[in-house]
Amino acid sequence: MIRSVLKGTGSALPKQVVSNAELAKRVDTSHDWIVERTGIHQRFIADETETTSTLAIDAARRAIEAAGVDAESIELIVLATSTPDQTFPASATIVQNALGCNGCIAFDVQAVCSGFLYAISVADAMLKAGQAKRALVIGAETFSRILDWEDRTTCVLFGDGAGAMLLDAEDNGEDGPGILASRLHADGAHNELLYVDGGPSTTQTVGHLRMQGREVFRHAVKNLASVLGEVLDDAGKQPSDIDWVVPHQANRRILDATAKKLGLPLEKVVVTVKDHANTSAASVPLAFDVAWRDGRIKSGDLVMLEAMGGGFTWGASLLRV
Ligand code: UT7
Repeated sequence: MIRSVLKGTGSALPKQVVSNAELAKRVDTSHDWIVERTGIHQRFIADETETTSTLAIDAARRAIEAAGVDAESIELIVLATSTPDQTFPASATIVQNALGCNGCIAFDVQAVCSGFLYAISVADAMLKAGQAKRALVIGAETFSRILDWEDRTTCVLFGDGAGAMLLDAEDNGEDGPGILASRLHADGAHNELLYVDGGPSTTQTVGHLRMQGREVFRHAVKNLASVLGEVLDDAGKQPSDIDWVVPHQANRRILDATAKKLGLPLEKVVVTVKDHANTSAASVPLAFDVAWRDGRIKSGDLVMLEAMGGGFTWGASLLRV
């Protein structure tokens, strides 16, 4: 039984930290409002020398180093982003060139905040199908570049960053490590609740993020609880079997509400939204890397990854580390 086994993780953040207090000087908001409604205290914002691909390259290098492998041995790069360096080519090809594994498969996937779940599911399927033996899966974003910095309802919520996982196709038997089950969904009926008001084929501009937060919140809790149940059923597991949940870090209240719906104790949920804000496709691998490096997530743990975002898209993966 071939599974995609985690060999190393890495993450990267821009140099510049922006506090809630600093944002309160630019728009009509306050530290207390942001903390009470979201749990966010600060976010990292890319400067002019940092881009989605530079963050992705740094995160990838750390994952490669943690795995103790040579970059040239990577056969597949899947990069999840909605804020690529260029409309084309894929940012994955920029990362590939910097790492020196030219010639391997490299492409981007775009599923907004669920992007990493889409990327890891696609990589898992390709590893299982024998199209590659070693994959680098990255979530990287510079959402600061598509925010309307005068819209207080959105600009306080997001930050920049990247996270990466290195996966190997291995056969370690039924009880071995690896991705046990994944589920993905999309529902294009809700485009107007979370979207960017520009693009190459419409306005020929990059556009700005627009969101009806309260509506998104409602759908997020419902969709996440249901996809987590599906993945647990597929893997034949119970909520009580889970050691850690690494959720998309959009809002502390969504994390709490989803955990409550599943009857999961909050101590099992990795929460980094306070420090990073919502980094879209980067948030799950970034939070995973933090909890892996500080020793919370250990070898043998059963970890649920989950996310919901624009599209709407949502998904979850259950991973034995
Ligand atoms: O990553 C993709 C998924 N995205 C999400 O999951 C985001 C989901 N949504 C949310 O996290 C929350 O809905 C928000 C944090 C965006 C908003 O929280 P809320 O409790 O749903 O607030 P609200 O939108 O209902 O706004 C409440 C009030 C409004 O004022 P009125 O109409 O009651 O007078 C807003 O205008 O808060 C006001 N408000 C603000 N006040 C101070 C909105 N943004 C701000 C702000 N500072 N930054």
